[in-house]
Amino acid sequence: MKKSTLVLAGLLAMGTAHADEGMWTLYNLPDAVYEQMVNYGFELPCDMLYNSPNAISNYVVNFSGFCSGVVVSPDGLVFTNHHCGFGAINAHSTVEHDYMRDGFCAKSFSEELPNENMFVSFMRGQQDITARVSSLIAGKSMAEQEQIIDSLTNVMNDSIKAIDKTLHIEIDPFYEGNKYYATTYQEFRDLRLVFTVPKSMGKFGGDTDNWMWPRQTCDFSVFRIYADPKTNGPAEYSKDNVPYHPEHWAPVSLQGYKDKDFAMTIGYPGSTSRYLSSYGIQQRRDVENTSRVQTRDIKLAIMKKYMDADEATRIQYEDGYASSANYWKNSMGMNKCIDSIGLIRQKAEYEAKIKHWLSNQKVKNPATNVDFAALERYYKESGPVMNALQYWQESFWKTSEFFTRAIQMNLGAPLQGDETNPKKQYFEFADNSSEWNYALDKEMTAAMMKNYAKMMPAEYHPDFFQTVNKKFGGDFDKYTDYLYKKSKVLTKGAKFFSKDTKKFMKDPAVQVGLDLYATYGKILEKVAPVTEKIQAEEKKLCEAKIQMEMDMPHYSDANFTMRLSYGQVGGYMIGAFNSGYYTTAESIVEKFKQSDKIPDYKAEPIMTELLSAKDYGKYSDKKSNKMQLCFLTNNDITGGNSGSPMFNGKGQLIGLAFDGNWDSLSSDINFDRNLARCIGVDIRFVLYMMDKWGHADRLIKEINPQ
Ligand code: ARG
Repeated sequence: MKKSTLVLAGLLAMGTAHADEGMWTLYNLPDAVYEQMVNYGFELPCDMLYNSPNAISNYVVNFSGFCSGVVVSPDGLVFTNHHCGFGAINAHSTVEHDYMRDGFCAKSFSEELPNENMFVSFMRGQQDITARVSSLIAGKSMAEQEQIIDSLTNVMNDSIKAIDKTLHIEIDPFYEGNKYYATTYQEFRDLRLVFTVPKSMGKFGGDTDNWMWPRQTCDFSVFRIYADPKTNGPAEYSKDNVPYHPEHWAPVSLQGYKDKDFAMTIGYPGSTSRYLSSYGIQQRRDVENTSRVQTRDIKLAIMKKYMDADEATRIQYEDGYASSANYWKNSMGMNKCIDSIGLIRQKAEYEAKIKHWLSNQKVKNPATNVDFAALERYYKESGPVMNALQYWQESFWKTSEFFTRAIQMNLGAPLQGDETNPKKQYFEFADNSSEWNYALDKEMTAAMMKNYAKMMPAEYHPDFFQTVNKKFGGDFDKYTDYLYKKSKVLTKGAKFFSKDTKKFMKDPAVQVGLDLYATYGKILEKVAPVTEKIQAEEKKLCEAKIQMEMDMPHYSDANFTMRLSYGQVGGYMIGAFNSGYYTTAESIVEKFKQSDKIPDYKAEPIMTELLSAKDYGKYSDKKSNKMQLCFLTNNDITGGNSGSPMFNGKGQLIGLAFDGNWDSLSSDINFDRNLARCIGVDIRFVLYMMDKWGHADRLIKEINPQ
């Protein structure tokens, strides 16, 4: 029963793409899309999305290059997800002040915590520059195209900076490189942490509930943008900066939502592959996802073992663990969906339609004339080397401090010491010993080599694997003992003098780094030409689809530029299972009770108290009379959208998007409107926690929810 429902739902979705799926760029939003939004209950004029000074898109931000967020107050407060603020919260946490475990509420501006390397950026404009780019890149190789686009970006930046030096421009390919848009951004780099709930709530349900519904996660954190006191514009961090005063910000609503109400997200979806061929989907399943799961099974188990044993180690690895686990579970779920929905077969059937359409074209158009046989062959050919690329990256890139330093040793690191005397110049690693654990690092290094050796054919083995075979009887544990004993790369304060080339070369880490790097180079050399050929055919496939379905609006795949997605509040059905469309306080209290068996459901006793209240006052839903925690819409989102504001038909903030549902984890490849749901945290749950747990009166006043 379950399976056939899934297949049927999938078939209906494929081919007859509905106007209400999609991640739309705002400046050229098709009329048909706006009309459909109005049908669903959007009440504002189209200009309020992008064109007018108080347009909604003016207060949606790119959060630090990996998430989304929204400005919600006249003093520059920004809402995003807890899992987007996770790295910042983690960086401020120590065993003594564990903001991750205990939460944090700045009582005044002066207590708000600055975050190095974080930023928010506002989109200040976007234009189609396809005509300009196409003439420049026609007939050029991929590498040449990249260079040309880089220099065009520089030229455009020079001219925009002459007008306003706080702006910058980025050029991105859209529609698989059939179009190019230039986007203007203004970036604010003084971003301070203002508020977070304890992790028990911000990440409630942990990896058990991640990518799942029903959900109770209070996935939000609060930051503030600081600006130059004189100009109210961007400035590097300074204690003299003042809160940024935006001209407009999102009105926050206490009114809630009901089934079928209009809902819209605006944010920064990172990457989707909706135009990907059936062969590409197969490679995604068998190579990318499979290798990710296989390696991360090992990495996560090692991290967990050490994190469970020691609090300081838990803090050190918490951020890395969370992001690794996130796409580990996503990849498993996606593979399950690709099979249960029968996506590869569906896509192949759709390609047959395109083939048919192409064969009926009187004049062959080089922009759409896909060579399907060649595309299939390229994917087949590239499988093993793509697998090697994945394995290399998952195994050696930033997996252990040892590998990181071994590779860095060979990348020409900047020298220190007396500049006038080359003999006295040396290279020294910055002391980051507080960030990693020696025993864990060692176990990780050994495990990654062992697994790579097992999973990869000899042609992709780094040369030092021969040493391991000859001198250590193939025993990677023994070899790792030797590396960690012999090498000075992990020794605090070790100096590598450039005059000691011989001694330097004798450090076994140097050879490991050199060989790993050489292997990577060899893999890339094989990957590049076939990727270029694949991309050329995929680009044609995308254009063919668009031309075959001329009468429908088409959105481009996500590429971390701002997109709007609209739809409605509502649940989904799988067989007899009705998901419902919101969760209530009772359901989290039920889960708290299971925390003996499921540690991810554990929270501080105060949370049980707060969420068993008799009366939630203005935060309870007027209709259900309950405290609603999380809710579902059919908005089309993906990774990067995390923290995206969810607006009602009046453009008021009703929630923050934070996840997708397990039954549609293949939605990055094919959006199935019957199954794909966006999970959001109800803004009333957010405000309730700020108010009753955090006693953040000054912030609530500033936000002034209505
Ligand atoms: N899956 C969500 C995302 O990718 C949330 C991840 C964080 N939550 C967690 N339990 N690990 O945006």
